[in-house]
Amino acid sequence: MRDAEPQAVRLADYRPPEWLVDTVDLDVALHPTQTRVTARLALRRNPEGTPDAPVILEGDGLTLVRLALDGAPLAGSSFEASPERLALRHPPSDAFTLEIETLVDPTANTQLMGLYRTSNNYCTQCEPEGFRRITYFPDRPDVLAVYTTRIEAELDEAPVLLGNGNLVSSGPVLGASRHFAVWHDPWPKPSYLFALVGGKLAKVSDSFTTASGRQVELGIYVEEGKEARAGYAMDALKRSMRWDEEAFGREYDLDVFNIVAVSDFNMGAMENKGLNVFNDKYVLASPQTATDADYSGIEGVIAHEYFHNWTGNRITCRDWFQLCLKEGLTVFRDQEFSSDQRSRPVKRISDVRMLKAAQFTEDSGPLAHPVRPETYREINNFYTATVYEKGSEVVRMLKTLLGEEGFRKGMDLYFERHDGEAATIEDFLASFADATGHDLSQFALWYSQSGTPTLEVKGAWDEAAGTYRLDVKQSVPPTPGQSEKKPMVIPLALGLVGPDGADMPLMLGNTPVERGVVEVTQKEQSFLFTGLDAKPVPSLNRGFSAPVNLKSDLTPEDRVFLAAHDGDPFNRFDALQGLALGLLTRAARGGAADGEAALIDAAGRLLADAALDPAFKAQALALPGEGEIARELGSDVDPDAVFAVRKALRLKLGAALAGPLAETYAALGTAAPFTPDAASAGRRALRNLALDYLAVSGSDEGVARAQAQFAAADNMTDRMAALAVLAQHDRPERAAALDAFYARFERDALVIDKWFTLQAQIPEAGTLERVKALMLHPAFSMGNPNRVRALVGAFAATNPTQFNRADGAGHAFLADVVLSLDAKNPQVASRLLSAFKTWRQLEPGRRGHAEAALRRVADTPGLSPDVADIATRSLG
Ligand code: ARG
Ligand code: ZN
Repeated sequence: MRDAEPQAVRLADYRPPEWLVDTVDLDVALHPTQTRVTARLALRRNPEGTPDAPVILEGDGLTLVRLALDGAPLAGSSFEASPERLALRHPPSDAFTLEIETLVDPTANTQLMGLYRTSNNYCTQCEPEGFRRITYFPDRPDVLAVYTTRIEAELDEAPVLLGNGNLVSSGPVLGASRHFAVWHDPWPKPSYLFALVGGKLAKVSDSFTTASGRQVELGIYVEEGKEARAGYAMDALKRSMRWDEEAFGREYDLDVFNIVAVSDFNMGAMENKGLNVFNDKYVLASPQTATDADYSGIEGVIAHEYFHNWTGNRITCRDWFQLCLKEGLTVFRDQEFSSDQRSRPVKRISDVRMLKAAQFTEDSGPLAHPVRPETYREINNFYTATVYEKGSEVVRMLKTLLGEEGFRKGMDLYFERHDGEAATIEDFLASFADATGHDLSQFALWYSQSGTPTLEVKGAWDEAAGTYRLDVKQSVPPTPGQSEKKPMVIPLALGLVGPDGADMPLMLGNTPVERGVVEVTQKEQSFLFTGLDAKPVPSLNRGFSAPVNLKSDLTPEDRVFLAAHDGDPFNRFDALQGLALGLLTRAARGGAADGEAALIDAAGRLLADAALDPAFKAQALALPGEGEIARELGSDVDPDAVFAVRKALRLKLGAALAGPLAETYAALGTAAPFTPDAASAGRRALRNLALDYLAVSGSDEGVARAQAQFAAADNMTDRMAALAVLAQHDRPERAAALDAFYARFERDALVIDKWFTLQAQIPEAGTLERVKALMLHPAFSMGNPNRVRALVGAFAATNPTQFNRADGAGHAFLADVVLSLDAKNPQVASRLLSAFKTWRQLEPGRRGHAEAALRRVADTPGLSPDVADIATRSLG
């Protein structure tokens, strides 16, 4: 374990590395408990460093066996070694080779950081600071080296040996049952991109020819017997490779690209150079085991990791404060890819839903931090929705401001200037500023100011002048460590919708508004639109052009109008959502739920609109979630009241639209075999939404329909949707369906995770006991992150009424799990604990329970830095 109270690291304290590493030659002899790692580092003093600076290499729990300098063993007096550090206070010259032998125990590595075992295979995870658990190294992203890795293992234990780059040689080790493989990666990289894999794995092969004609061998390695489930991932990989050539002019740069799917993984996946390692959840899919959401998740994550090859690997980050440089940008790229492969409006809607649920919530609570944080105690805790999702929104705004062409010019310049380097956000922004002549200094505030800006917009119509004035006010709420905020650059895409539903001309004075985007840059600003022959209804923040809380003076009638006519599909969706959110929050505060008739009417018309994409309808007709309602309420939230008003509205919608919903359900049924394409997925989404609305009341008919679908389904999407409906009703059909589901899929851990999650989400008083009982189920394991997230994570993050039980038992339970998991896997434990990020918005009774649970965690001696950091900041 590392220091209990790690020092805060500050962006302002950045110093270039004192020593550089030109090449790394690794020799790894795999062994279940005593893997021997010999690292030969060609060290060179950084001419830009401090003269006479010592060599200081990081370690984490390492055992040093042997040290040699330029081939000669080093005397104990010439170095200092501890599990955490190797220091040469007086290096003999400015360039030498240091040979370091360490012993590591992959079996004992339950943190899943560094070299560890998963299903008896060996694999590594080095981002952000795992390489130091393999050997001593300047383990920071601005030290780039060329790696050659020789891996050796028992042939029958690990017939497959994979490393970064291209395979140089392989064969038997003479006179033994062992064999070896040597991999060489010609592209200099930081240590966090190092990876190796050894084990018994089946390979799915394919190939890809790049735009310039390079032949690339593609391999996806999975557990034996699962080959058939890797087909969709392979297809997504090839589409990603082509898309990056077409959309960004980026070609792949090695002869091989390998992906390995493992069943024990802390996160989603990892972009190691030429050797991506994936949580198998984001690789394996078949119609019988994966839902449409799983398929789109696989497509998105495969693309994301592949796109990192340029945004992350060829250009990496100078330090971990710049994490969004690769993550925000790469999320933006994967979102654009999925938009091109599927429906752009529907992708945007689901991304914004996610952004609001995860990032807006984070940004409004104690864990709020800037897209580029300025200080951290534990970097693992900054792989957040803010760095990833808001980071992507910032790139998207840049594109909105600069236009398609300007954005591409900036990206091209960024690649040209910084290829092979470890860059910063300043470098990134300068590329766009220099390529387009735009001044981006105020825009840069998006990286440093945390908190979701509020944009208040009021409209004023002048009949006589034919003008419409928008008065805009922006403010950013105070967030931890930032009480005063400056005005931001907010690209506000908008339209003025005329009485016939068509967009009216958008003119500021005599100038047409370019691309329909105005730039809000001041605290208060007015825009006067001219040349209008009728009063328009403004359609604001089209496509969610800026990640802000928009407070407009639109009336419910305006929203009903926009829901029916807005030319911008996102805002058509948003008009209906806004209508629902308004009446749900009023009702949750105890007011009258007025406006229901208008909402039902608008929803009915949308459902009946034959021109609309079913996937879009499914999104528009799904009410805002309990989390979004709670965030809108802001304080004194009673999750039971939120649940109750939402359920009441679902009941009303289900009853009022029963006829058309039943027709929709019947019309979308099909005998065609399952295909995972977006259009088919959209039809299933709408049909399953209808199934759900038709059963909210718990009527025999509604439940019977779900039961029939559950029994007859030929794919996991429909089976799961039916089971989710049945799970909401405490009737004998629920238990029967859950048992049948388990019996059918008991040997398939990823499917059983769905079974865990569904039960953890039941909004009933018995759920906590159920979750506790399931933790003792043979299919559950505290050692596997997917199991923990599926059961405990889902309970804490997606069951607001039961996690926030009025008696505090849900909060106490989470604290117990976090404390018992912490010694084993601090990263997963701290993730779980971050479910408390909304605790301050609860009503006083529940708030007290949450605070007590957090304090109990914070006061426990021997916490990991990960959990200590989240507990402290949550209470701060
Ligand atoms: N770079 C990876 C991705 O976003 C995430 C890896 C983070 N891993 C971790 N242990 N914090 O694709
Ligand atoms: Zn990433």
